[in-house]
Amino acid sequence: DAEDTLQPRAPVVTIMGHVDHGKTSLLDALRGTDVVRGEAGGITQHIGAYQVTLKDKSKITFLDTPGHEAFSEMRARGANVTDIVVLVVAANDGLMPQTIEAINHTKAAGVPMIVAINKVDLDSANPQRVRQRLLEHEVMVEEMGGEVQDVEVSALKKTGLDQLIEKIQLQAELLELRANPNREAEGTVIEAKLDKGRGPVATVLVNRGTLKVGDVFVVGAESGKIRALVDDKGRQIKEAGPAMPVEILGLSGVPMAGDPLQVVENEARAREVAEYRAGV
Ligand code: GTP
Ligand code: NA
Ligand code: MG
Repeated sequence: DAEDTLQPRAPVVTIMGHVDHGKTSLLDALRGTDVVRGEAGGITQHIGAYQVTLKDKSKITFLDTPGHEAFSEMRARGANVTDIVVLVVAANDGLMPQTIEAINHTKAAGVPMIVAINKVDLDSANPQRVRQRLLEHEVMVEEMGGEVQDVEVSALKKTGLDQLIEKIQLQAELLELRANPNREAEGTVIEAKLDKGRGPVATVLVNRGTLKVGDVFVVGAESGKIRALVDDKGRQIKEAGPAMPVEILGLSGVPMAGDPLQVVENEARAREVAEYRAGV
């Protein structure tokens, strides 16, 4: 798209970290909701995609990952949707296997990282130890003379949240994230499933353009026509612009995470592209 058609868009932030270090709790605190208590066993089973609107009306899109498979799977398929990674490290546990895995994934993706040292409300919290251990994995936070932003937070006590948001916004500004909202939409599948009542459903992150009800599209080897768009609060909406996560209904089948979605001119064209992609 030409430079003059580009408009600022929200950053897409992926929350990563070891199991139970507080990724979902931190997102809950930022959103002012309570997803964790609604999860079976407090374990995130799927990717949550949310958009938070800040006091200044700017937005941040958050992706909450259950493990790192989804992230690496998407990256392996060429879908780099993440602008910034927030690495959550519990201050009592410190660096754990999945923390290190997340560091490696983030480095491989070349995505800037912000470290959120969580659970600092606990007596056993040792944030300084976390910083030192990070150094061993070549993540040098500012206090250690490096350039990686870190912030002490407690998702439980809701402390440090404003600082975390500030650091995300600062990092996002440096990235100068832009997209053209005034074109046919292109997006990426974040997750997809077969819903008993609703049929195939996919959560799509819009990369550019605006996705609208009635749009004809191709997504991976599937195609369809948007029957409904559902936002992260379960509300039906008419359209979704850049950096917005949205559930789509009207799919021919279940696509795969990382599949690109593209709006096309008509259904004949959609079938043609989908069949070509499926290798039929
Ligand atoms: P998975 O999705 O299963 O990987 O876990 P998660 O990283 O999303 O962690 P989750 O938010 O489910 O939190 C795990 C546990 O840590 C829960 O019992 C939370 O209540 C607790 N927890 C999260 N944040 C804090 C915090 O800041 N302080 C304390 N004390 N406990 C916290
Ligand atoms: Na958990
Ligand atoms: Mg979780």
